[in-house]
Amino acid sequence: MTVQEFIPESYTNTLTNGSVKWSSPSNIALVKYWGKKEHQIPANPSISFTLDNCRTTTTLKFEKKASSSDFSFDVFLEGEQKDDFKPKIETFFKRIEQYLPFLKEYHFVIDTSNSFPHSSGIASSASGMSALALCLMSVEQQLLNVSMSESFHFYKKASFLARLGSGSACRSLEGDLIVWGSHQEIDGSSNLYGTKYPFEVHDNFKNYQDTILLVDKGEKQVSSTVGHNLMHNHPYAENRFNQAHDNLSKLISVFKEGDLKSFIDIVESEALTLHAMMMTSMPYFILMKPNTLEIINRIWKFRQDTGLHISFTLDAGANVHILYPEAEAEPIFEFIKTELVAYCQNGHYICDKIGFGAKQLPI
Ligand code: DP6
Repeated sequence: MTVQEFIPESYTNTLTNGSVKWSSPSNIALVKYWGKKEHQIPANPSISFTLDNCRTTTTLKFEKKASSSDFSFDVFLEGEQKDDFKPKIETFFKRIEQYLPFLKEYHFVIDTSNSFPHSSGIASSASGMSALALCLMSVEQQLLNVSMSESFHFYKKASFLARLGSGSACRSLEGDLIVWGSHQEIDGSSNLYGTKYPFEVHDNFKNYQDTILLVDKGEKQVSSTVGHNLMHNHPYAENRFNQAHDNLSKLISVFKEGDLKSFIDIVESEALTLHAMMMTSMPYFILMKPNTLEIINRIWKFRQDTGLHISFTLDAGANVHILYPEAEAEPIFEFIKTELVAYCQNGHYICDKIGFGAKQLPI
């Protein structure tokens, strides 16, 4: 597979204006992507649960311009013009222009909203870039005059484009388990786009729950781009990248057998390794807060006391994702409410679960 595949044939249709709308989910990585090469190529493969409730909905309006010299667009978040989002989208457009040659021919209005509260510390870049990539793909479909089902690689190309906006966004299109980055044992896995996890998954993982505890809703202390760059010349980089391959290999039998105990070991170790990488890079960061540690310790104690399969994972921040099987949801959610919510900023948390991907919406 090469990038050439994503350069379209010439467009057969002419369009003067129109609009399209997509809703894309967020995702939570189990094996983490941390470290990348040029052109958004991941340093190691990753796998994520697609979420269901945490979503970005984007309407893209387009209107043909008189000249096609530059990109032209306006961005709105929850109805409010957001010029500070423009540089990131401009960079995205530059990266994807050769794969979507119509980009300079239209003026776009990008109207976006998130289901989760703004500045909740939940990154919207994955769901946001996924929704925007899907909208642009829908425009391209109209220009090519093909329906979505006729286009065998609609999601593949949308994921390829989303990756160029934000790496983890390429895992935010389909559900329910997505692999990104080539892995020896996973057929079809690619560094260029996310693919559905192709093997058997035990019922223990169906409807897996994710309660997100919002420990710190502030701006990220370290942007993910800066964070990924810290893996260049990192003393432990090579071992870390190998470990991600190994953990993904181990997960194959864990998913097949429904081995919750090993799932917990791998997922928690991945979360702590991600933070260990940040603590041991130069410059170094601690992104966990005292309440992050409080929550982790209480999860461990509760697990020991009850034998229930509660576990946690972390992103590049202080918030905690609590993962647990649907069959144990009642007592675990009760524990979260009575013992853990107190450690969240303003008591805020979000209930989510594994989901099935992006949806095209009527305008
Ligand atoms: C810690 O996808 O946000 O969430 O490619 O620079 O946009 P960019 O990075 P981004 O990195 C996400 C890193 C992570 C782990 C993960 O989602 O795999």
